[in-house]
Amino acid sequence: MSIDLLTGTDLDLDASRAHQRQLTAKDAVRFRDHLLRLDANARRLRFGGAVNEHFIAAYAVRVLETATVLGLFVDGELRGAAELHGLDRGGERAEVAFSLEASCRGAGFGRLLFANLQRVAQRKGLRELVFQCLAENRAMLAIGRRAGAQLRFEGGEAHASVTLRPLAVAPPRKVEATAAAARRGVESLLGHLSAGEAALS
Ligand SMILES: CC(C)(COP(=O)(O)OP(=O)(O)OC[C@H]1O[C@@H](n2cnc3c(N)ncnc32)[C@H](O)[C@@H]1OP(=O)(O)O)[C@@H](O)C(=O)NCCC(=O)NCCS
Repeated sequence: MSIDLLTGTDLDLDASRAHQRQLTAKDAVRFRDHLLRLDANARRLRFGGAVNEHFIAAYAVRVLETATVLGLFVDGELRGAAELHGLDRGGERAEVAFSLEASCRGAGFGRLLFANLQRVAQRKGLRELVFQCLAENRAMLAIGRRAGAQLRFEGGEAHASVTLRPLAVAPPRKVEATAAAARRGVESLLGHLSAGEAALS
């Protein structure tokens, strides 16, 4: 069994028919159709209230132009999405949002998408991920808690904040080599100087 997701997975499910990739503007229709397939309750949980088809159609186009979106495909059909918003503002914080069709819920895909989005955000140098959801959204809250989120509840809504650790970045080989060469140069110069001093004394 293999799975073509960004981080790989050890989830206990048959995920061999699933893969994940970043969506582009060309996926607007697929993304729209996925959002339209959300049942009424999932649509309410995703958008915080009732939204109609026109809203969703415009939303799908706009989001693919402004956000980073990971798509979860099962048997080639887009069944889930994880959105990272706010990167264009150049800050260290981004907002995330998730949508999974009923057939894919409760199987660990939400947790996996969150983990993958977290890695994407870390690679982009972000320091904080936030999300808002209805306070009744136990799955989303569980995902947040597992990621170490700080949660604040207010007026039937939950606000979550996850602090991201910076990725440990190894210095590029060229820089390492240059630093080593510089160090050798300084050592050699110091060697010459002390040899000169010894000769003078
Ligand atoms: C919220 C959502 C993304 C979660 O994804 P999922 O694949 O269903 O969740 P997972 O299977 O990865 O489970 C994640 C956690 O939630 C828990 N969970 C899942 N479904 C649950 C449910 N119906 N009730 C309570 N807990 C639930 C799981 O036990 C797991 O907890 P754990 O990590 O402590 O074991 C998905 O259900 C969804 O798209 N819902 C509709 C839209 C929505 O709510 N979007 C979020 C708004 S930003």
